[in-house]
Amino acid sequence: MTDEECQITLNTGLRGVKIASTRISDVDGDAGRLIYRGYEIADLADHTTFEETAYLLLYENLPSLSELKHFKDSLIREREIPQAIIAALKTCPSDSHPMDILQAGVSLLASHDSDIKTPGPEASDRIALRLIARMATLVAVWDRIRNGLEPVPPNPELDHAANFLYMLTGKIPDSRTARFLDVCLVLHAEHSFNASTFAAREVASTRAHMYAAVGAAVGSLSGELHGGANARVMQMLIKIGDINRVASYVQEELDSGRKIMGLGHAVYNVDDPRAMILEPMSRILGEKSGNPIWYQLSNALKEQTRVAFQQRKGIDIPVNVDFYSASVYYYMNIPVDLFTPVFALSRIAGWAAHVIEEQVGGPFSKPVLYRPESEYIGDYCGPDVCTLKPIGSR
Ligand SMILES: CC(C)(COP(=O)(O)OP(=O)(O)OC[C@H]1O[C@@H](n2cnc3c(N)ncnc32)[C@H](O)[C@@H]1OP(=O)(O)O)[C@@H](O)C(=O)NCCC(=O)NCCS
Repeated sequence: MTDEECQITLNTGLRGVKIASTRISDVDGDAGRLIYRGYEIADLADHTTFEETAYLLLYENLPSLSELKHFKDSLIREREIPQAIIAALKTCPSDSHPMDILQAGVSLLASHDSDIKTPGPEASDRIALRLIARMATLVAVWDRIRNGLEPVPPNPELDHAANFLYMLTGKIPDSRTARFLDVCLVLHAEHSFNASTFAAREVASTRAHMYAAVGAAVGSLSGELHGGANARVMQMLIKIGDINRVASYVQEELDSGRKIMGLGHAVYNVDDPRAMILEPMSRILGEKSGNPIWYQLSNALKEQTRVAFQQRKGIDIPVNVDFYSASVYYYMNIPVDLFTPVFALSRIAGWAAHVIEEQVGGPFSKPVLYRPESEYIGDYCGPDVCTLKPIGSR
């Protein structure tokens, strides 16, 4: 291999490298297509709830009515988090980022779950169910605690999305808001080998337990190039504030080499199909609120960035899932720094499915430890390794 070829390989960030087989989901970046276990994302968003989608991801088939009822009842039973964890969260500084709290909370959940010592698929299924049920509670409990409020106990009458909003505010959300959040959770539940899922699978490949894998995934999701982008989109919209400032903002950001958040994608070359479902939700919520500015600013920002990208690079920049989800969550009165935790409390369904797939080895391979290689470009002393001098003579 020439130096030039070697350089290209090293700079890929694993783009285009297939590292495992999966039966869970597929992304076609040229067609703008996303499927979960064979089903088109638009169909799932139209016709299923988050609970049905989570069931599909975990158990490979859509549930029957009785299977769904059993699954939902199990989730409801698992929603409470131990009082000891609530007490521990109360000791954290109130300005702690909710993603840090979520990552710590996931590890604390492990210490309260004896199933981490039970090998086998049944224990993994139980842990997956608990994580799906309890991550939502962790996020809501932390928001209450940091605002000096008592946690709101989960409401067994409510589905997952509605219950999350209820635990945040103590009020039962209207049916439109609850259903829109439910659709958001369906859309965010899974997306093949993105950075956080890769992190989860890599940790699972060491045979660490599911909480360890999910903790790593939460950390990965927090970054602004991944799940953290949704909060950054909203901060950007708030900073711009006025349609007349969009064009100059775009030019300034691109001139300074900064990213326009919510645009661009490592896999999609066309618009993300999830963004196309979120866009009308943002429009409807904007109209209903009587304050469509966030939707309008989003559209203007997208258009202006596209024009600038065509002029500067001669390419179309696609819109990604984080672009319109930002204004959707803002219209739902979800605090901006909870946007990424909301992403996580949906994506846990996909992470858990991937960890389970990693544990059994997937359809075409046996479980294997991930261990890529690197090229050492550090120092040698001349043609050989350095001679170690005792500390007194260095
Ligand atoms: C997601 C992301 C990391 C993919 O990056 P990528 O794989 O480098 O994307 P591409 O290869 O298509 O980028 C082509 C060029 O456009 C630039 N670019 C991509 N997205 C951009 C954005 N949102 N704003 C400004 N420039 C961007 C890249 O830096 C690259 O520039 P270069 O040719 O001068 O090096 C990138 O698009 C990004 O940072 N987006 C903003 C963050 C975001 O929304 N993340 C959520 C993703 S779901």
